[in-house]
Amino acid sequence: MKRVALAFSGGLDTTVCVPLLEEEYGYDEVIGVTVDVGQPEEEFREAEETAEALGLENHVVDAKEEFASVCFDAVKANATYQGYPLGTALARPVIAQAILEVAEEQGCSALAHGCTGKGNDQLRFEAVWRGSDMEVIAPVRELGLTREWEIEYADEKDLPVEAGNEGVWSIDTNLWSRSVEGGQLEEPSYVPPEEIYDWTSEPTNETELVEIEFDEGVPVALDVLGSDASGSQSDANASDAGEELGSVELIERLNEVAGAHGVGRTDLMEDRMLGLKVRENYEHPAATVLLNAHEALEDLVLTKDERSFKVGVDHEWAEKAYEGLLFAPLVKALDGFVDTTQEKVTGTVTIKLEGGTARPVGRESEYAVYSASAASFNTETVDGIAQEDATGVAKYHGLQERLSNAVAEDVAARDVPTAADGGSETEN
Ligand code: ARG
Repeated sequence: MKRVALAFSGGLDTTVCVPLLEEEYGYDEVIGVTVDVGQPEEEFREAEETAEALGLENHVVDAKEEFASVCFDAVKANATYQGYPLGTALARPVIAQAILEVAEEQGCSALAHGCTGKGNDQLRFEAVWRGSDMEVIAPVRELGLTREWEIEYADEKDLPVEAGNEGVWSIDTNLWSRSVEGGQLEEPSYVPPEEIYDWTSEPTNETELVEIEFDEGVPVALDVLGSDASGSQSDANASDAGEELGSVELIERLNEVAGAHGVGRTDLMEDRMLGLKVRENYEHPAATVLLNAHEALEDLVLTKDERSFKVGVDHEWAEKAYEGLLFAPLVKALDGFVDTTQEKVTGTVTIKLEGGTARPVGRESEYAVYSASAASFNTETVDGIAQEDATGVAKYHGLQERLSNAVAEDVAARDVPTAADGGSETEN
């Protein structure tokens, strides 16, 4: 009895995969696996109904907590790819791993997905799966299927695909981001209509302050302070500062609060792994707030050198995350650096939600590399150093540059003009 586990969503691609795995690949039994990384309720209903109509045994795995913890790893690394906070990319390895585990439990010898040969997800899934002994099958890619062919085939086979299943846009939603592509949006000049947005409202004139508390780089509490309270001191150290929330609730709650202010809309030209440039639209209110807040806290507690070096580390981390390669040895090494820096990233940041933006307006930490007396104009000495001690430093500052410029001038003055300069002096 040959069994195969299929990454199942109930959409057109994965639905046609079910009979194809039997007919074209000779499997006796297909089981579906749907992994919950925070998709909307309807998607599970659709998967369940389609599975039932197909007579498919479908397993649903809740991986929300695990996924949220990967999202918080991304926060520690300030991770975005070309402006996109990586929701889909971060979710794929979590989904792939969950499917592999079900497949092993269920005695399957193969794993299948419904990705095409053009996107990133095929690579992300298979990067995880090909580390196992399972056979990997990608019917849509391997059989060169087109949407038209799939619709006709589904019709012929009387498969449960409603036209309603597949809207105008291709949408991928999880806790961290909602992505919308396809249809007219493929045209880079086409201005996205308001209807593509679901998590964000059009920005208004209203403002709201939220406070995010971090513990070693990880968001742990949220306080919604209500409308603008500028001029006031944040009460970050008061013990009632924020409501401690689990990672999933914190993200969900923040998606609602910040989404109402239109925070976290991104429209970009994205360079996919295979080189294709694709127009993508995203919504990610919570991710934007948390990434901005986290960076603001790092600005307070890390030294200048740590900050500038970390920019490069963060970039590498995000590249690997986009590629679905978070298990790479490089990432383990990068995490070593990131985690060491995060030991100090504990504190609270106040964010102002305003007209589609999430701007840090206050930050506080016991690790602040900041001395009020050192920065103030009103005190005589800092750490035993007086103002006039800077005189020596000021004399040296720019020494090499002055020297270099002077030398260059000297050489130019000495230079014998050439014929190209007119040559008049040498000729006379
Ligand atoms: N381009 C993004 C990525 O590769 C997200 C794609 C999501 N898929 C979709 N059908 N909207 O990570």
